Amino acid sequence: MDTVAFAPGRVNLIGEHTDYNQGFSLPFAIDRGVTVRARPLAGARIEATATDLGERDSFALDGPEPAEGWRAFVRGAAAELAGAGVPLHGALLEIGGDVPRGAGLSSSAALEVALVLALIALGGGPEPPRLELAKLCSRIENEWVGAQTGLLDQITSLFGEPGRALLIDFRSLDVRPVALELGDWRLVTLDSGERHAHAGSGYNERREQCDAAARELGIASLREATLEMAATLPEPLARRARHVVSENARVLEAVAALERGALAELGPLLDASHASLRDDYEVSTPAVEATVARLHAAGAAGARIVGGGFGGHVLGLLGPAACAPPGALEVRPGPGAALRQMPRSAG
Ligand code: GLA
Repeated sequence: MDTVAFAPGRVNLIGEHTDYNQGFSLPFAIDRGVTVRARPLAGARIEATATDLGERDSFALDGPEPAEGWRAFVRGAAAELAGAGVPLHGALLEIGGDVPRGAGLSSSAALEVALVLALIALGGGPEPPRLELAKLCSRIENEWVGAQTGLLDQITSLFGEPGRALLIDFRSLDVRPVALELGDWRLVTLDSGERHAHAGSGYNERREQCDAAARELGIASLREATLEMAATLPEPLARRARHVVSENARVLEAVAALERGALAELGPLLDASHASLRDDYEVSTPAVEATVARLHAAGAAGARIVGGGFGGHVLGLLGPAACAPPGALEVRPGPGAALRQMPRSAG
């Protein structure tokens, strides 16, 4: 039998760049993601193939060297699992997926999570608690890929539930499912056509600016800041902090709206989130703005950039009368990462 692990990408309904500020987010797992098929291999080695890229990697389990691109994820997954004392077995890995890379839909976390689930299963040990796995996966991204991302994507991929978004409190790491009943409304994402790599974009710089703002205010994180406190900071720190404070408030308003079944109220919240990401956090681009405009022209009740920014996908909320623009991808909350035992593929 092959071991097959599937891990989904995610859409963040609202709560962007709040995770590494110990704030709130409201994401959901989608039905697209990364699949890793694993077979035991004699010897302490990993032989991996990225099927859609037609590329291979091969390394010893004992102390893999750093690498670039998708190989950094595979080597990082093996090394971080070994470092955490998880038993590993030599493996032949086939990696494939249907979530666009670098597009704000969390292809990276889907890859990390699918890899670690497949390697844990093949090693025969028990699965560690999922919150621990989320942290382990984010270490792969921080240490091996060089992107100082937070825990948003990994928690969503590991904890996603059909029909529900997740209210995540990044201070307590409490994850609360919130029913996302869309009725005859739809959520769609539309590609701006621009791709990013967090390690090379302004992502790490934004994170440093938030840390600097918190230090300047003498608080542990921007979760504890208020709009008044943000206004005392020098620019650009004041704008960055204002985004985080206002975005946290919008997440809680969005949860209240969903709990009242008031979907229409989400539209202005998505628009306000986008304006804040564009003007205060400065992670939008002309291609993203054109994509937001296309969604509004199609009658979207609200639209905003999703994920780290600097390109990628835009999320739109469409009411019953609106028509999705060409190329839009409908998204709805799907299950979190899981293992499957599959009959060995022919050949
Ligand atoms: C990327 C990161 C997340 C989060 C978002 C912005 O997706 O991986 O940790 O910071 O950007 O909300």
